[in-house]
Amino acid sequence: MRKKLIVANWKLNGNWAFNEVMMSELSLGLKEVQWHDLEIILCPPAVYLQQLNGLMTDVPILLGGQDVSEQFFGAYTGETSGQMLKEFGCRYTLVGHSERRVRHQEQNELVALKAKTALACGLIPIICVGETLEERDSGKMNAVIQQQIQSVIDCLKDDISEVVFAYEPIWAIGTGITATVDQAQEAHAFIRGVLQQYSELCGQKVSILYGGSVKADNAQVLLGTPDIDGLLVGGSSLMSSEFLAICLSSLNSK
Ligand code: 13P
Repeated sequence: MRKKLIVANWKLNGNWAFNEVMMSELSLGLKEVQWHDLEIILCPPAVYLQQLNGLMTDVPILLGGQDVSEQFFGAYTGETSGQMLKEFGCRYTLVGHSERRVRHQEQNELVALKAKTALACGLIPIICVGETLEERDSGKMNAVIQQQIQSVIDCLKDDISEVVFAYEPIWAIGTGITATVDQAQEAHAFIRGVLQQYSELCGQKVSILYGGSVKADNAQVLLGTPDIDGLLVGGSSLMSSEFLAICLSSLNSK
């Protein structure tokens, strides 16, 4: 059985006071629930990892980075290493988010190296893939996604079965437009197919999350889809009631 994950990506949001309130609200909301097969992961800005780690004692939430350097240490100004994320309590890290691919020109090969370094540091990389609207409309979507995944396979080889993928169509991020269930399932089945071509085990084992305008009212239907194993949530993870509702809806899905 594949792991089910709900991941909150706070992006460039949060502050000392907000974080405290969010943690106490999430802790109350999640207290009574036994999360048998669900992992809830919070990816705040790196500077708040220490504060949140300290607030996490009674909350069934794991921490993740939003990005990681492909380097282990050295003269790389502004970077955060995998060991640093580990020291601050992270179990996961996002890599290759479209906001980094687009704004920071991160190419497939660099994203693959970041995933490799994350694994070497004992972190599970959540590797984001997805197409622009232009790529979708011009029929290039599958080729783009295939290349994004193939670069990771080429770099990680058999370790590919240790990662998590997240399908985030760029046109659905922060726009309020969610991929339809059929569009999401089609893309997820395609991604699983690419992984299966490498190895049957990898295709069966790797969790694939959906991200892009996830809300409480579409979470359950998305999670009910055969190849969607979890959600990567941006804006809705900044409202505790909305995020709690998303977590709870995963209990009622497959
Ligand atoms: P939104 O949920 O705000 O669309 O963001 C999605 C995302 O980019 C999560 O990584």
